[in-house]
Amino acid sequence: MEIRVSSAADLSYVASKVLDLAGQEKIFIFYGDMGAGKTTFIKNLCSVLEVSDATSSPTFSIVNEYCSPHGPIFHFDFYRLKQESEAFDLGYEDYFYSGNYCFIEWPEKVPNLLPNSFVQVEIQVTGDTERVISANKK
Ligand SMILES: Nc1ncnc2c1ncn2[C@@H]1O[C@H](COP(=O)(O)OP(=O)(O)O)[C@@H](O)[C@H]1O
Ligand SMILES: [Mg+2]
Repeated sequence: MEIRVSSAADLSYVASKVLDLAGQEKIFIFYGDMGAGKTTFIKNLCSVLEVSDATSSPTFSIVNEYCSPHGPIFHFDFYRLKQESEAFDLGYEDYFYSGNYCFIEWPEKVPNLLPNSFVQVEIQVTGDTERVISANKK
């Protein structure tokens, strides 16, 4: 699936579509340059999933947890990870295999730790506020 949006205001619609595509899949990995809109898109996913608390970038922690009627949602930002072993230290397996939604920014940092199946989302910057969002089930 590939959708072009002209502004961030269209992301809510795309978030619903991506969640439909995901079906039962709860692991989502996000590719895209710094500033492409990964965190912004995750905020929209959280809002479609009716997260009550504010979702922000996990600036001070690698993983943030949000509450939703679908259960806890885990949001990872592995950008500052220096080595994969740091993901073990934070107990990534307990999150990835919990059956709860996991939204993972910078999956490039943990290539060997990704589960077998996930929804892969790629965000390309095509203009000031224009993005092309591709989502594929793997
Ligand atoms: N269509 C769009 N989709 C996502 N973000 C957009 C869009 N248009 C503008 N932006 C802006 O681009 C920035 C994306 O930042 P962020 O979501 O933190 O990126 P990332 O997590 O990929 O580093 C935000 O300031 C956001 O408001
Ligand atoms: Mg981000």
